[in-house]
Amino acid sequence: MTHHIALTFEDGVTRFIDASPDETVADAAYRQGINIPLDCRDGACGTCKCFAEAGRYDLGQDYIDDALSAEEAEQGYVLTCQMRAASDCVVRVPASSALCKTQQASFDAAISAVRQLSDSTISLSIKGESLGRLAFLPGQYVNLRVPGSEQSRAYSFSSLQKDGEVSFLIRNVPGGLMSSFLTGLAKAGDSMSMVGPLGSFYLRDIRRPLLLLAGGTGLAPFTAMLEKVAEQGSEHPLHLIYGVTNDFDLVELDRLEAFAARIPTFSFSACVANPESGYPHKGYVTQHIEPRHLNGGDVDIYLCGPPPMVEAVSRFIREQGVQPANFYYEKFAASAA
Ligand code: FES
Repeated sequence: MTHHIALTFEDGVTRFIDASPDETVADAAYRQGINIPLDCRDGACGTCKCFAEAGRYDLGQDYIDDALSAEEAEQGYVLTCQMRAASDCVVRVPASSALCKTQQASFDAAISAVRQLSDSTISLSIKGESLGRLAFLPGQYVNLRVPGSEQSRAYSFSSLQKDGEVSFLIRNVPGGLMSSFLTGLAKAGDSMSMVGPLGSFYLRDIRRPLLLLAGGTGLAPFTAMLEKVAEQGSEHPLHLIYGVTNDFDLVELDRLEAFAARIPTFSFSACVANPESGYPHKGYVTQHIEPRHLNGGDVDIYLCGPPPMVEAVSRFIREQGVQPANFYYEKFAASAA
């Protein structure tokens, strides 16, 4: 039996390797062409020290405290020359992908569906044989090449990969390069290529309640995360607050309802900032964060939205005098032409 290990590098690149329970993660990476920095290979120097973001593993007893202290091991640091995986793991490598002799992967696919969910939001699905080998952490993004141009745009996966197909939620930016293509020219079967996966915004092991905050198409990484949670379950509560500017920006509510039905610990609310809105919940996301969602700080917060939202939420949490256990965020800005 092998385990899948996601190696995330300093430059945002992620590569997946397979590791059997009896080989070290460093050996498994090397076997698959990735050179995690090593020196002694013996648990003595600490050169191979990384951070395990998720998963179960065994570090053995054969390393010395100078290489990895008990406190570091407790925090999640690992020596990859000693680490043997006991489940799928996510390991953050404190080096660039280039230094480790690896790079981003590229994939060719074809459009399988383009759906205009509203005036402001488009759902794009692409499919291809090469995508059957694509692995990513829910929450991550890729750079999608805009057909007919040399330019790429970054989009978070809004689904997991299933049968070689993945989906994205794309803001319809008037005059935007990708938006113009998708609303004007795109048709099923058109070729699309992408590079990735990328990014450090991804779902970690769920060890405490989660508060998920989405702004506009910043909902995309959360629907991918919720697909994963629906598969594996969660004993901890997850609450999503989804904020948009106008009523027509509210999309995928039926999908969120379906997640709430499938995941007993999941709940969500949505709000619309425009005071003219007819939606029952108005205002900004921060107006809908309740003390119970912050759980006295014993909470992991994930936020994906435009920069002003990230700043407003950071300020709001500071003002509450709460220090969340973890606060992960992804800022995005729509690209114009
Ligand atoms: Fe020296 Fe792992 S390479 S401790």
